[in-house]
Amino acid sequence: MELKILPYPDERLLTTCEEVITFDSELHAVIDQMKHIMVNANGIGLAANQVGYMKRVLVMSIKIGNTLSSPLELINPKIVERSEKSAGLSEGCLSAPGLFYQVQTRAESIKVQYQDRFGQTHVGEYTGINAVCVQHEIDHLDGIFFFEKLNRQNRRDAERKLEKRRG
Ligand code: CO
Repeated sequence: MELKILPYPDERLLTTCEEVITFDSELHAVIDQMKHIMVNANGIGLAANQVGYMKRVLVMSIKIGNTLSSPLELINPKIVERSEKSAGLSEGCLSAPGLFYQVQTRAESIKVQYQDRFGQTHVGEYTGINAVCVQHEIDHLDGIFFFEKLNRQNRRDAERKLEKRRG
């Protein structure tokens, strides 16, 4: 299966993904391909429905200072704790390249429960841009594109720029 990044507003980006129940070699192959696609596109996060695989899988690179980790994989991720404090950072998306906006509701730090490719449960803690990235990707898995969470002015700006690109 050859996967590629779907551009907004592909309807698969607006569709909720299903829980992963079977942790088999097909899943592993998709995850490996997602990591490859994300790194090649210079992204720091990618949700499975962005490549048309409708399961709750995300890959991301963690930023530590200016260094990016090798890609991590989070399966069936769930936010179990979030800070009151908001992150105050802009974010972009590989499904709408070059458009960066701040989503006001992103928590500055979060705790996430997830499974690895073998079905083992883990808990991860993320702050700053890494926390924003996880929240953005989990929204994808819930069929929510970040444009839906922008204030009216930014949303209008985004739609206008996309329209211009389509020509
Ligand atoms: Co995105």
